[in-house]
Amino acid sequence: MTRILSVGAAALAASSVIGSASAASLYAFYTGTDAGVQIGMQDPKSGDIWVNDCAKMNNGNPLFPTETPLVLPVSTPVKMGGGIAATGWWDSQKVITSVFWHSVNGTIVNAIYNCDNESGTFVRQGPEYVISETANVKNSSIHENTGLAVELLGSTAGYRVFYHDNNSQVQELFYTTKTNWNYGGIVSQDPVSSFALGTGHSSTDNITVVFPKSDKDIEVSRFNSDKSWHISTFPDTLENSPTNKTDTSKIAVDSSVEANFSLPAWNGAPGGMGVAIDSTFTRSVFYIGTDRLLHEAANINFAWKLFPNQSSEAWPEADEPNATMAATFNFQTSEAWIYYVSGGSLVQAYRGTSGDWSNAAVISVNSVDDETASNATGKKSTGLSNGAKAGVGVGVSLGVIAIAGLAFFFFFHRRRRQQAAAAAAAANKEQPINLGEYQTPPDQAHYMADGSMAPPYSPQRPYDAHDPAKMAQMTPVHMLATPPPPVELEQPPMIHELPPENYSYELPAESVEHR
Ligand SMILES: *[C@@H]1O[C@H](CO)[C@@H](O)[C@H](O)[C@H]1NC(C)=O
Ligand SMILES: *[C@@H]1O[C@H](CO)[C@@H](O)[C@H](O)[C@H]1NC(C)=O
Ligand SMILES: *[C@@H]1O[C@H](CO)[C@@H](O)[C@H](O)[C@H]1NC(C)=O
Ligand SMILES: *[C@@H]1O[C@H](CO)[C@@H](O)[C@H](O)[C@H]1NC(C)=O
Ligand SMILES: *[C@@H]1O[C@H](CO)[C@@H](O)[C@H](O)[C@H]1NC(C)=O
Ligand SMILES: *[C@@H]1O[C@H](CO)[C@@H](O)[C@H](O)[C@H]1NC(C)=O
Ligand SMILES: *[C@@H]1O[C@H](CO)[C@@H](O)[C@H](O)[C@H]1NC(C)=O
Ligand SMILES: *[C@@H]1O[C@H](CO)[C@@H](O)[C@H](O)[C@H]1NC(C)=O
Ligand SMILES: *[C@@H]1O[C@H](CO)[C@@H](O)[C@H](O)[C@H]1NC(C)=O
Ligand SMILES: *[C@@H]1O[C@H](CO)[C@@H](O)[C@H](O)[C@H]1NC(C)=O
Repeated sequence: MTRILSVGAAALAASSVIGSASAASLYAFYTGTDAGVQIGMQDPKSGDIWVNDCAKMNNGNPLFPTETPLVLPVSTPVKMGGGIAATGWWDSQKVITSVFWHSVNGTIVNAIYNCDNESGTFVRQGPEYVISETANVKNSSIHENTGLAVELLGSTAGYRVFYHDNNSQVQELFYTTKTNWNYGGIVSQDPVSSFALGTGHSSTDNITVVFPKSDKDIEVSRFNSDKSWHISTFPDTLENSPTNKTDTSKIAVDSSVEANFSLPAWNGAPGGMGVAIDSTFTRSVFYIGTDRLLHEAANINFAWKLFPNQSSEAWPEADEPNATMAATFNFQTSEAWIYYVSGGSLVQAYRGTSGDWSNAAVISVNSVDDETASNATGKKSTGLSNGAKAGVGVGVSLGVIAIAGLAFFFFFHRRRRQQAAAAAAAANKEQPINLGEYQTPPDQAHYMADGSMAPPYSPQRPYDAHDPAKMAQMTPVHMLATPPPPVELEQPPMIHELPPENYSYELPAESVEHR
């Protein structure tokens, strides 16, 4: 079995720090080619949220220092092992992130951070918001092991935050510029079998939430254009096409329908689940099984099936069974990124625009200076995975660090850069010339899913709504006289879902999932 190590001494340092991170919470979100994927992980020892260097990338991949970690500044303490989630965007100069966490007091807290592009660290903007209190959700009604997931639908549609209540049911909080934070209702009355939550959306009216139903099935609740949640499972089928209004007792597997497959290495208690939606609307669900391997099932035209297993280079074995993981994706390009701990390091599995998985890359490094890091602004994502290759087969024993370690380091350091250059050149050659698919047309990114002009995404403005005195002064953003500066939305892809005519088959009545 191929082990994936990071370079020389970095691997050892990293493994001592995050080797036992399987129970830790992890998040990932994609901000576009300028700043790539942003990741965060709770350190299981301190409870701190460690983040990547938000101003630098390593060959287009995140740079996640572990020996001197970059800690997200937080004043309301994060619950140990508690749910964390984040989303964010690139505002044409820096990354902005909106982070959510389950606090030690059992509340759900949110704060907005700007990336300081000198230090690569996040600086909090404004206070921390106890959004569960604003939404009148009691901390006693939030499950002590709640998962957390967030979808940022756009500058007017706002946020949807998913969590578990004290009956293990998935619930929603929502935020729009007009409403502030509110309780959004239940996503499914069927209690979960464990607290992994995976979410993804392809438009404001098309949100998928997945979670474990049992030791056989994954449950999917999908919000669609009829503004309700439609519930299904796979590989088993449910009776009577339930929605979020269907009582728990009426949500049952249809025993007359034979399951076409079973979920490999699934025990109903994965540490994390991820969703990725590609440009053809294929929805993939990922989990790490009891066999420590990544697994993928996907839904094409509302039928679920297992997707192929990948090599151990592309999907290295996780360090723990049912390990935690985080996934993010770019709908427009069909790229997907998955993060988990393997070989004592945080690794990234990457699905490119062709739909093929590259070799995984090691994301964690000893310190930022270990890597030739490019500026966030200076480099486009190649998504390639040279880190993983460099370490293959190299056994570094604890004794050998010092000079030998340094020699190793510089040797591989150089080799990795050469490999990177070669791989990038190869990748360029392979890419068909298809501007529509490989580039985000900049002015299109200013439009929302409904075709309207996107206003500047200014979280400070909407968040002023927390202050009743300021609430009265809030001008609806679309009425501002000044023209919006160029803004890149967090998921520009949603603009491609414009014409509802094209999807006329997606009528509420037809929108129920089948396997
Ligand atoms: C709920 O929050 C209140 C005040 O924020 C706190 O006093 C109480 O201990 C919290 N409950 C739990 C279970 O943490
Ligand atoms: C959290 O709970 C502690 C004690 O349980 C309390 O002192 C503190 O004020 C609470 N914080 C918030 C934000 O409610
Ligand atoms: C850093 O950010 C400032 C403002 O936020 C911007 O003016 C400057 O160009 C940025 N520098 C780089 C290297 O991106
Ligand atoms: C769940 O929370 C609600 C609201 O705080 C409370 O009334 C109810 O008793 C709780 N249920 C359980 C099973 O803890
Ligand atoms: C079902 O979902 C809709 C849309 O989110 C929500 O308005 C409604 O309150 C939910 N139903 C329940 C019973 O929570
Ligand atoms: C919503 O998403 C599903 C699954 O990705 C897709 O099949 C469907 O076409 C989408 N509908 C619309 C209206 O975008
Ligand atoms: C993870 O998987 C192992 C089987 O490899 C199982 O024994 C263990 O209970 C699982 N952990 C959880 C939390 O389900
Ligand atoms: C992937 O491997 C697992 C064993 O780890 C197996 O059960 C499953 O059927 C395989 N999936 C496919 C699609 O071949
Ligand atoms: C970032 O890149 C710019 C130009 O590409 C360069 O001038 C600057 O020194 C770089 N900053 C860092 C921190 O590498
Ligand atoms: C099983 O697969 C067959 C062939 O793909 C399909 O016709 C059938 O509907 C599937 N059964 C279920 C329950 O999805």
